[in-house]
Amino acid sequence: LSKIEIKLSDIPEGKNMTFKWRGKPLFVRHRTEKEIATEQAVNLAELRDPEHDKDRVTNPKWVIVLGVCTHLGCVPIANAGEYGGYYCPCHGSHYDASGRIRKGPAPLNLEVPYYEFQDDETVVVG
Ligand code: FES
Repeated sequence: LSKIEIKLSDIPEGKNMTFKWRGKPLFVRHRTEKEIATEQAVNLAELRDPEHDKDRVTNPKWVIVLGVCTHLGCVPIANAGEYGGYYCPCHGSHYDASGRIRKGPAPLNLEVPYYEFQDDETVVVG
């Protein structure tokens, strides 16, 4: 399937769910207010691949990224690592709750796919 429709009400606040899209894992994360505030306040000068959180999300409650580590393609673990986002156990890359690389060998942030919100409850990725 080239597109996937995701029902957001199935994903509780603070949780990340993994879907399969175009043969790859797709992460959909329902962020807490605290996570949103933390990620929006990050100083871009600290980032290896500088991107503002606002440029990575359409609605700050929802982070939608490919679950593919930009180092060598392992699947990171959600809600793990030193930055509270994702941790890739293969070689120790730490991503924040915006999917941005913060520590470890990965060169780039987790990729944000094309997506559109159909309404408050539904997002279509692809
Ligand atoms: Fe993720 Fe190497 S594949 S750190």
